[in-house]
Amino acid sequence: MLNDQKVSFSGIQPSGNLTIGNYLGALKNFAEYTESYKCFYCIVDEHAITVRQVPADLRRRSYEMMALYMACGLDPEKATLYVQSHVPAHAELAWILNCFTGFGELSRMTQFKDKSQKHADNINAGLFTYPALMAADILLYQTDIVPVGIDQKQHVELTRDIATRFNQLYPGTFTIPEPIIKKTGMKIMSLADPTKKMSKSDENPNAVVYILDDKDTVIRKFKRAVTDSETCVRMGEGKDGINNLISIYSCFTGKTAEEIEREFDGRGYGEFKLAVGEACADSLDPVREEFARILADKAYLEAMMKKGADEAAYYARKTITKVRRKLGFVQI
Ligand code: TRP
Repeated sequence: MLNDQKVSFSGIQPSGNLTIGNYLGALKNFAEYTESYKCFYCIVDEHAITVRQVPADLRRRSYEMMALYMACGLDPEKATLYVQSHVPAHAELAWILNCFTGFGELSRMTQFKDKSQKHADNINAGLFTYPALMAADILLYQTDIVPVGIDQKQHVELTRDIATRFNQLYPGTFTIPEPIIKKTGMKIMSLADPTKKMSKSDENPNAVVYILDDKDTVIRKFKRAVTDSETCVRMGEGKDGINNLISIYSCFTGKTAEEIEREFDGRGYGEFKLAVGEACADSLDPVREEFARILADKAYLEAMMKKGADEAAYYARKTITKVRRKLGFVQI
């Protein structure tokens, strides 16, 4: 809590192209909170370097992420949008929190286990202590809520444990944050293998719909989506493909599963897939156009990054000063 206002914090890595899973599970909801919360939305480039990055790509994607935040309806006047490495307090608090985080706790993180399998040639210490940096991101701003996808729930829970432990030793330091996970859009599955999560790094381009895909591409991908041998548009056990399409359609149209089943009663999978593709493309079209418009103006993007970093640094300083004092670091 900052000056009586509740705080919402979230972060997205500037690595890879974002999918409709990222859009529905996180980005689309971020703007909602700006009315009633003080919002910080961070581009976490320091998290991104836990796996190897091509410098030019990382830089470009950081600009793109800033443009995408705005294209998804985040107003830089209403929310603090910024790049993590522009605010050194993140790295500073991360070091401190590392000293309050257990080796055992970090070893249990499923994202660490997954990523160390995927990047077996580079299991670095940063990949292991990644959740301490994420805890620093969140705790620096006295955050109340953290809107994230289900895959980040474990990290937010660890953040709560770290904050609680720190507060027991040094009372009144951090607000204990709460993860907010939307039920709809919680887990969007791959279109090629609907038992697997849709992943931005999937090698099969038909498995993934990207936020910036154009209309024809979106529709083509949905047309090819893997379903089952039945014909009736209905949720059901073992019907992962159809369940996924119903849930995507529901996210984009706001209709419930029952309404959707009624709408497509007696119509086949082909017609349904086309409708899902169109609903998705109609929602993404304005985002893509706005993204292109904003991205073209680099000076504006940089000005907004600077403004966001200054704002974030102002609040981060308050917390870091308090933490240093509580720990017994000498103030000069
Ligand atoms: N770890 C998150 C992810 O991979 C990104 C992230 C970093 C984040 N810091 C955060 C999310 C703080 C929420 C709050 O998606």
